[in-house]
Amino acid sequence: MWNRLLQNHYFIMKILAKYTHFRWLPSCRCLQFQLNLPPSDYLYGQSKGKITLEAWQNLEKLRSALGMAIGVALFSLILVISFVSPIYSLSSNYYDKTCPDAELIIANAVKNAAVKDKTVPAALLRMHFHDCFIRGCDASVLLNSKGSDKAEKDGPPNVSLHAFYVIDNAKKDLEAFCPGVVSCADILALAARDSVALSGGPTWDVPKGRKDGRTSKASETAQLPAPVFNISQLEQSFSQRGLSMEDLVALSGGHTLGFSHCSSFEGRIRNFNAVHDVDPSMHPSLAASLRGVCPSKNRAKNAGTAMDPSSTTFDNTYYKLILQGKGLFSSDQALLAATNTKGLVEKFAGSHEEFADAFVKSMIKMSSITGGEEVRKDCRVVN
Ligand code: HEM
Repeated sequence: MWNRLLQNHYFIMKILAKYTHFRWLPSCRCLQFQLNLPPSDYLYGQSKGKITLEAWQNLEKLRSALGMAIGVALFSLILVISFVSPIYSLSSNYYDKTCPDAELIIANAVKNAAVKDKTVPAALLRMHFHDCFIRGCDASVLLNSKGSDKAEKDGPPNVSLHAFYVIDNAKKDLEAFCPGVVSCADILALAARDSVALSGGPTWDVPKGRKDGRTSKASETAQLPAPVFNISQLEQSFSQRGLSMEDLVALSGGHTLGFSHCSSFEGRIRNFNAVHDVDPSMHPSLAASLRGVCPSKNRAKNAGTAMDPSSTTFDNTYYKLILQGKGLFSSDQALLAATNTKGLVEKFAGSHEEFADAFVKSMIKMSSITGGEEVRKDCRVVN
């Protein structure tokens, strides 16, 4: 994105150089002011005849006027583009003047819900991740379907998302204090941060100023990474969003919290492939216990298992389990398949602090993938 912006900038500078008294210097990629030399055979070496001084001065005036006009036009164009394009920057003090209590109001809504329901923090963390991976962190995941226009919320990977009411409660309180100011996308980013902190994990400063999107399509949820992904599919999915392999390993640590339904891992515990009934990369004891909670027949709709034994505590157990062959999804166990990701799993398994630091860095990166264009009044519907 920045690269493209920079390229556009260079392009505009070059045009300015062409029509004004500035010269484009490729060596420093900058403009240098250049005094015009008087007309001479040297300057007009290619031209046949000579021109009078008066004609030259008129030409120069014309050139300056043209340069000025183009400069003004391009400047206005840049201004217009910066207003209509979704490229904007986030900042830590975004609501300091317009809604100073925004973070407190959101933290209270998350805390009140989490006290009553222990599954809330994991749900909000996953919701934020699913929001950011489709159209950027623009709260598109919060929009309701409209008739046959199915929204992201109703896409297959998102049917198990829950706790949307927490964001609604926070929004309602915010609207009472500072109407139309705090975006739903920012509420979700802050709620995810608070969820991690409430679970005993790190806390951090969330850059704010996201805008809410006006589009949400269930079909686009097919772009979310799947639990059956191998390491190169995971790498591709993350790199398409500007996220590195380190971000992949650190953010996957979100699986220290929450619950998984049988459907997310059942391909590993039965009929795995022509040779193996069970995924050979899964520890036999884990496979046996998962087969117990997920019988092939007569299974309850909500059957499944905790993501790790300490699934309401944000810790580094997730990485320790992977090293024992006890990662729940193929995508978790796949982190051992490449040397660099395996090294990171080992590092995070060995140090909660290193994991926490990396997680914070990667969360800030993921939650800065922006999109959107408005501040919704109701997080479930566009303005
Ligand atoms: C790397 C690719 C990822 C894949 C393939 C993946 C896949 C999944 C799947 C299949 C579930 C279980 C859903 C269910 O059965 O109900 C799940 C749960 C969860 N995921 Fe991920 N995930 C990934 C990355 C992340 C990231 C980056 C985060 C957050 C930073 C995250 C946070 C969570 C949480 C907290 C849960 C538990 C949700 C709950 O209990 O409600 N996941 N994930």
